Amino acid sequence: MIVTTAQLYRVAYGKFAVGAYNINNAEQTMGLFKGCLASNAPFIIQLSKGARKYTDKRMLEAIIRSAEEIFPDAIYAVHLDHGDEETCYDCIDSGFYSSVMIDASHETFEENVAITKRVVERAHAKGISVEAELGMLGGVEEDIAVDEGNACLTNPEEAVEFVKQTGCDALAAAIGTSHGAYKFKGHQSLHFHVIEAIQKKIPGTPIVMHGSSSVPAEEVRRINAAGGTLDPSACGVDENEYLPAAKLGVTKVNIDTDGRLVWTRVHREFFRDHPGDFDFRPPGKIFIEEYANFIAHKNEKLGSAGQIATIRESLKK
Ligand code: G3H
Ligand code: 13P
Ligand code: ZN
Repeated sequence: MIVTTAQLYRVAYGKFAVGAYNINNAEQTMGLFKGCLASNAPFIIQLSKGARKYTDKRMLEAIIRSAEEIFPDAIYAVHLDHGDEETCYDCIDSGFYSSVMIDASHETFEENVAITKRVVERAHAKGISVEAELGMLGGVEEDIAVDEGNACLTNPEEAVEFVKQTGCDALAAAIGTSHGAYKFKGHQSLHFHVIEAIQKKIPGTPIVMHGSSSVPAEEVRRINAAGGTLDPSACGVDENEYLPAAKLGVTKVNIDTDGRLVWTRVHREFFRDHPGDFDFRPPGKIFIEEYANFIAHKNEKLGSAGQIATIRESLKK
């Protein structure tokens, strides 16, 4: 059942985080639904601009509608990840999305506010909620490269002004993470003092954590043992920090890179071990199962595992 993102946030806020997983194709979608049902977890499917262009945005929508029929017990929202203004309007007008993200974080504060406000007005008129971003994550986000040295954490004082002026429903905050597989040099953790300060300033507004993949060393090792050349220093967010962050208002946790690593590991190992094969279905089947296990594991770490019944109850009220 597709629900609004706001309905998921209402139940999760301050207690657990909802996993927001990017999908691009049917195999990922199958694994995602299977993993979330196996762990009884609500979830958010997110579609990036790149994903919408990869095959066709209508193809992704059709895949999700089919998954809805195949897995009638699943409870989830559909979200646009890192939208620009034009893509947000396209999604709002489509009638298919539960929420959109307007990412104008690369603009000045004033311009970010102005753009976000316009999107909020259009979205709220249709009952769709809006995630907006303030602060700059390190690393690379689709078209926008943010130099690691310029990574700038969200200022809690600005956060309260931003939410007040824009009316956005959730705030993507820069709290020490970045997109991709190379997040930190040496050991670093989430900036809990910043999360805490933001929550104090905007209590009740869900905080969104982008760049939340954990980039397991074992996954990188296996990929490289099967022919990959990933930098072994690749590392990400400690999964054991998801839940403490959730208790401080981090309600949506975005995970994409870790799923890509599962895909790469499965396919590299399969074709290394079966060099004469060329049918993509055998590794595809393995991927779906492995992806489902990966999703169920993430949901355990996020605290969303087992919460589907609570969401179902809350929908009756
Ligand atoms: O933050 C970006 C997400 O990982 C989506 O990646 O834009 O390559 O689809 P993408
Ligand atoms: P990762 O690259 O850490 O998976 O982050 C994904 C993300 O933030 C999508 O918006
Ligand atoms: Zn992101």
